[in-house]
Amino acid sequence: MECAACDVNAYISSKGLDPAKMPAHVAIIMDGNGRWATSKGKNRLLGHTQGYHTLKQIVYESNRLGLTCLTVYAFSTENWRRSGDEVGGLMTLMLEAMRAEIEELIQTGIRVRVSGRLAELPEDLREELQAASHRTKHLPGLIFNLAINYGGRAEVVDAVRTICKAVENGELRAEDVNENLIHDHLYSPDLPDPDLLIRTAGELRLSNFLLWETAYSEIYVTPVCWPDFDPSNLVRAIADFQRRTRKFGTVVEEAIS
Ligand code: IPE
Ligand code: IPE
Ligand code: MG
Repeated sequence: MECAACDVNAYISSKGLDPAKMPAHVAIIMDGNGRWATSKGKNRLLGHTQGYHTLKQIVYESNRLGLTCLTVYAFSTENWRRSGDEVGGLMTLMLEAMRAEIEELIQTGIRVRVSGRLAELPEDLREELQAASHRTKHLPGLIFNLAINYGGRAEVVDAVRTICKAVENGELRAEDVNENLIHDHLYSPDLPDPDLLIRTAGELRLSNFLLWETAYSEIYVTPVCWPDFDPSNLVRAIADFQRRTRKFGTVVEEAIS
């Protein structure tokens, strides 16, 4: 075994986790920024700023834990319904955060990716995200996948449109459409499906996140609001995941205690 892998496994074990049962892909619905701020009598945007600091910690912890991929829901296709102040504040925060963090991400070997309808984002943010993903694509570490202007339904619509065009052009036949083909036209076909989906702030819904990809994800919901979520909460979610029995529709013999 390479030493880098030994180090990662030692780190995983030091957290009380089993290196053989780690999720490859963790996805997070980072919810509760607004409630966190409101409960302190502060502006919602302060909750988002605090949420950015949380995200930074969780990205580096995910990398230390050797995860292949971390996908985070940063802005949904429905979040445009919020006030202009909040939407504008979020766009500025994402732009400034990416500008501030890119060099450290590169030094740590983290690959930045983006999922969503980027064409609808402000130009400066879109360009920053595209540059970050270009500059980091050869790096060896965690894939940090930002879902921005992302909607699970929009993703399926975009895939179906591309497939329909190929059928119109005679490149595909309707009979060729199957699960693999749809998968291949999603935003990130090279990523494994999330093994573990975490939602903070207690809501028991998907809110249009990764509708196709989470078909068999294990779901973990915590009441902790995103600004208060820390690396120990991530480790706890993974420990819970390691106690689950994944069945994928089959029958698995379980010990009866
Ligand atoms: C999640 O926190 C962040 C985004 C949706 C951008 P919220 O802003 O939804 O926080 P709550 O749900 O109002 O507390
Ligand atoms: C989901 O949270 C979107 C993000 C975390 C970016 P929302 O706060 O938008 O979800 P709902 O409105 O409570 O379903
Ligand atoms: Mg919310």
